[in-house]
Amino acid sequence: MAVSKQDVLAALAKLSSPDGRALTDGRVLSDVVVSDGKVFFSLTVDAAAVKAWEPVRKRAEDAVRSLPGVQSALVALTAERAPGAARPTQAAQRAQPHARAAHPADKVQPGIPGVEAVIAVASGKGGVGKSTTAVNLALGLRDLGLKVGMLDADIYGPSLPKLLAVREKPQTIGGTRLKPIDRYGLSVMSIGFLIDEETPMIWRGPMVMSAITQMLRDVEWGNLDVMVVDMPPGTGDAQLTMAQQVPLKGAVIVSTPQDLALIDARRGVAMFKRVNVPVLGVVENMSYFLCPTCGTRSDIFGHGGAQKEAERLGVPFLGEVPLHMSIREKSDAGLPVVATVPDGDHARIYRDIAGKVLAQLRGGAGGRAAPRIVIEA
Ligand SMILES: Nc1ncnc2c1ncn2[C@@H]1O[C@H](COP(=O)(O)OP(=O)(O)OP(=O)(O)O)[C@@H](O)[C@H]1O
Ligand SMILES: [Mg+2]
Repeated sequence: MAVSKQDVLAALAKLSSPDGRALTDGRVLSDVVVSDGKVFFSLTVDAAAVKAWEPVRKRAEDAVRSLPGVQSALVALTAERAPGAARPTQAAQRAQPHARAAHPADKVQPGIPGVEAVIAVASGKGGVGKSTTAVNLALGLRDLGLKVGMLDADIYGPSLPKLLAVREKPQTIGGTRLKPIDRYGLSVMSIGFLIDEETPMIWRGPMVMSAITQMLRDVEWGNLDVMVVDMPPGTGDAQLTMAQQVPLKGAVIVSTPQDLALIDARRGVAMFKRVNVPVLGVVENMSYFLCPTCGTRSDIFGHGGAQKEAERLGVPFLGEVPLHMSIREKSDAGLPVVATVPDGDHARIYRDIAGKVLAQLRGGAGGRAAPRIVIEA
């Protein structure tokens, strides 16, 4: 029997908030997303009352889970600071991993226990090959001997289920924490593992942040040298907040060589600078076309633009990846080239890029004790 939103709301109406009101009365409840037996919603509460709310969050999750037809339930607690209220201290935020202040001014991001460095792969523009680059970069870092994880932060259009051909659901540990999926030696998590590919992702602001927070903090990542985060495309408010939400050591910007993409890449660099995240470098994707039959090289989009742009912006240039049928075919079939054709030219290119990223992390921009996240008023 399929569970409906009304069933979920009816179950939640029986639960009380810490102040005794029904959970559905207090205007704390976000929209309830029900998709194919999976239920997701958030409770937006005052940061000062988070401790009192945590058992309610748990009860809500348990109540929804016990409804017939529910396969999984994820209830996130999002903290909101009342105007003029004291800012929660960093220690308090650490003690309350679900507590997230709503305003960027309050974002003080603790690292993720066991994870050495979190890096973002981002682009100003969609469709430039960011996810393909992120996956192959992660595998390149794996080939350098690192323990690597991947987080798909593109909750509007998660790519990792497809790019890594993941069809299974993550297991839970102790009913609340999720185990990442292991693929090609990478520990991977994507909202797409929990919600079906065809489901349109409609998220409200606080839900976006709690989904990302939960994927960062409520997943048993274990010890990782690097976590590669596939960011949603663009440089709007949502991306900016996300850049602040994730404790980043650095960012890699992917661009194609066209002028328009480069303008967007520039915005991407500016966005990370604005939030004090070091830009580890720029990758030019679909840089040139090598004819598979005659070997002739064509610079379809006037290659080299990203390198010039990187120089102009004073950020490292990490390399160029050709536009190639096998990259597309392999990527879209869930067989990334670095894992499946490790001796090929493309794998070598991605490994070179990974080497440069690592050098940046260790000795370059990311090696400095850079502030992780900016605090903007
Ligand atoms: N170097 C390449 N050569 C050929 N095809 C590529 C290359 N890089 C990416 N692609 C293909 O381009 C398409 C878009 O790539 P991808 O999904 O990685 O982009 P994206 O920037 O993450 O997109 P979105 O903005 O939708 O998240 C995919 O079909 C992918 O296989
Ligand atoms: Mg993508």
